[in-house]
Amino acid sequence: MGQVTNRTKLKLAVLISGGGSNLQAIMDACNAPGYPAEVVLVFSNQLDAGGLDRARKAGIRAEAIAHKGYPGGREAYDTAVSTLIEQSGADLVVLAGYLRLVSESFVTRWQDRLINIHPSLLPSFKGLHVHQKALDAGVKFAGCTVHYVVPEVDSGPIIAQAVVPVLPGDDAGKLAQRILKQEHKIYPQVIRWIAEGRVSVDANAIVTVTDAKPAEISAINPVLDPG
Ligand code: GAR
Repeated sequence: MGQVTNRTKLKLAVLISGGGSNLQAIMDACNAPGYPAEVVLVFSNQLDAGGLDRARKAGIRAEAIAHKGYPGGREAYDTAVSTLIEQSGADLVVLAGYLRLVSESFVTRWQDRLINIHPSLLPSFKGLHVHQKALDAGVKFAGCTVHYVVPEVDSGPIIAQAVVPVLPGDDAGKLAQRILKQEHKIYPQVIRWIAEGRVSVDANAIVTVTDAKPAEISAINPVLDPG
């Protein structure tokens, strides 16, 4: 296998709203030798998002535009975001704790090149406060999902999921931390699969990862025995 060069790396624009621990996991993965992607832009709708500092410390371009009071509303805002992403040359837009609904035209603009991570096992528990929703439903396993983005919120073809147990004494914060640890594994793995051209979606919106190795699956999903 030839060495992965900068020229062949998949360019990522990562959109965040907060601390950016998923962004950090992605940047760390990108620093590993041979990882086939690089972050070219970090964008936030929150001017004080902690993830912006993480990016700047790593020498990555970080931009923010406050959505509150943006003239022209959501469509105009998303057009400005798309322009930044286009200028960065990104191939894939990665929503990593971007806690803002994107417009349909944004989804169309980046169709098949726009992915999201959500801290539940979709299609269960869409929207906000998902850890509490999982606890309230009494589920015994929870987890996270990486999926392609479609106009309907927290829907779209599921690329990968990781599972964690719900333990006695859990509150929403404890469960969120356990799931977040898996998010940090699953997102870099999915980005690798996409960069390697191994992810395809069929007419029924079912995703297949070509040649997914048991070790890759068990690395993101220690609960499962790959057999
Ligand atoms: C993560 O748990 C992510 O799954 C969630 O926000 C958190 C961001 O954490 N995203 C959503 O809820 C989107 N619906 P981070 O800023 O530390 O990566």
